[in-house]
Amino acid sequence: MLTREQVVAWLKACAEVFAEQRDFLTGLDTDIGDGDHGINMQRGFAKVAEKLPAVADKDIGQILKTTGMTLLSSVGGASGPLYGTFFIRAAGVADAHQSLTLAEVRQMLSDGVEGIVSRGRAEPSDKTMCDVWWPVLAALGEAERDGLSLTQALERAVAVAEQAVKSTIPMQARKGRASYLGERSIGHQDPGATSSCLLLATLARQVGEAA
Ligand SMILES: Nc1ncnc2c1ncn2[C@@H]1O[C@H](COP(=O)(O)OP(=O)(O)OP(=O)(O)O)[C@@H](O)[C@H]1O
Ligand SMILES: [Mg+2]
Repeated sequence: MLTREQVVAWLKACAEVFAEQRDFLTGLDTDIGDGDHGINMQRGFAKVAEKLPAVADKDIGQILKTTGMTLLSSVGGASGPLYGTFFIRAAGVADAHQSLTLAEVRQMLSDGVEGIVSRGRAEPSDKTMCDVWWPVLAALGEAERDGLSLTQALERAVAVAEQAVKSTIPMQARKGRASYLGERSIGHQDPGATSSCLLLATLARQVGEAA
């Protein structure tokens, strides 16, 4: 089970991870974008961390909804609304829940990704964060069918996510600012795919440490 405490610890850890990875993500976005992705993620999750104490004793749905609203209001560009929508949609299945099963975690992430797609209309191989989330969702579905624990399932999903991030390198961007580069976007790792992988890896680490 994914507990409320783990969700809070995850989001808090994201603030640290995105502070540490700010320059790396910004560097990736400098190659094919406008160089703000690291700053966006760092600023957004710093704001989330500020809001956490006020909602830490609420249900997981409320915690995720607050996270999404905070990202929406504090992060500009494409990724703020996309990640904001992700967390707001993810909150639905977690409404009134103090913990989530693997099936519920998969549903939560799946609803979140549907939110990203409904906003950004990304398709497979457009070189976006969705190119990480789709294989991750498939891996979680498979893990569920194989009867894996949440910890094992997330570990497997992170391995898939890391591969998926690398798979964005040869893709030509067809969404966002990177798409303006046309073929010159080929050969670079997508910043949003990278931050999505970091989000997932940070979740897996929290769950793994608690196991
Ligand atoms: N339509 C979309 N659907 C899903 N993800 C997207 C879309 N457009 C951009 N992204 C993701 O957002 C990342 C860029 O986020 P960033 O924080 O730099 O915002 P931005 O500078 O406004 O982005 P962009 O200029 O690419 O629209 C990209 O690496 C990509 O993964
Ligand atoms: Mg950018």
